[in-house]
Amino acid sequence: EKAGYKHFMAKEIAEQPAVLADALRHYVENSGGVNPALRLPEGLDFTQIDRLTMVACGTASYACHVAKYWFESLAGLPCDIDVASEFRYREPPLSARSWALFVSQSGETADTLAALRYAKDKVAKIVAVVNVSTSSIAREADLALPILAGIEVGVASTKAFTCQLAVLALLALKAGQDRGRLTAAQVQAHLADFALLPGLMNHALGLAGEIESLSDQLAEAQDVLFLGRGPMYPLALEGALKLKEISYIHAEGYASGELKHGPIALIDNRVPVIVLAPRDHLFEKTVSNMQEVMARHGKVLLLSDAAGVAEAGAGCWQALTLPQVPDLLAPILYAIPAQLLAYHTAIAKGTDVDQPRNLAKSVTVE
Ligand code: F6R
Repeated sequence: EKAGYKHFMAKEIAEQPAVLADALRHYVENSGGVNPALRLPEGLDFTQIDRLTMVACGTASYACHVAKYWFESLAGLPCDIDVASEFRYREPPLSARSWALFVSQSGETADTLAALRYAKDKVAKIVAVVNVSTSSIAREADLALPILAGIEVGVASTKAFTCQLAVLALLALKAGQDRGRLTAAQVQAHLADFALLPGLMNHALGLAGEIESLSDQLAEAQDVLFLGRGPMYPLALEGALKLKEISYIHAEGYASGELKHGPIALIDNRVPVIVLAPRDHLFEKTVSNMQEVMARHGKVLLLSDAAGVAEAGAGCWQALTLPQVPDLLAPILYAIPAQLLAYHTAIAKGTDVDQPRNLAKSVTVE
């Protein structure tokens, strides 16, 4: 069942280029060919709404958090995001000119399902992004979009996260097109970029050896910080969640710019600080936050592309070079080294990677 891998998690990390390509074939007409076009089900007309509310738990909620950046910047569509356990008890006002979107790998998470039921008669449409198409959340939604990741066994979500992101990015492109923010040609250019993603992901998987060789040192850390800006901020949250849940090392993700508002007090030469920073328009700002860490002897591990590592790698404890990637796809690509860091650190610590203590794959109690 593990197809030669030591753990389901390793297998599921490695499967990502293939399952993502499956999802693209499902949602993109002519993926990888000429004139690619979105192929989404009927009933997703984003001109009908002026707000989108996204609700999920854990890793799925970080996918929503990334998607908020996309929906707002590509489509000018205001988004709310919340974790389901808070959303359901807050009595959030919901408008009839909005949709509520629920993201869940299992489709059975109790809080997410309860949040869906709360939203039911208050919004124009309930959309679900799920892995298990026969699940309660898929059945109770007005429209369920499968992420096509295949069965995920490892408790730590990996391939479901990147497939959730892919489906959400395609929805954001549809929203951008419907709302007149993106031309058909721009959408096509994004879809052409998407076709390159499985190849880029394969390249990122090639970092496993380098990451493994860092893992002994990371395994000694008491605390690890992850930093990112823009859509890489929720990736920092996801990287920290993955590390803490399988290696039991205390880890936190922060928006890079928040560092000086408190967490920088934690920095000393024993705290690895993992910076997720493709060389995009926010890079210089992230680098200046990174330099604040280095000035306090923090051990910076920079994840960037060749240009970013060339510009800012000096003085870092370590740097890992990812392929250059279009901005929209960066969070999907950078999820891979974040997963590999957690995986190899957990192996170095000797923890039970597929069945971490205290955790269950599907959380059906609140
Ligand atoms: C983390 C993880 C959890 C789940 C969360 C939601 O690796 O797997 O945080 O993401 O329990 O589960 P689903 O997506 O099944 O609703």
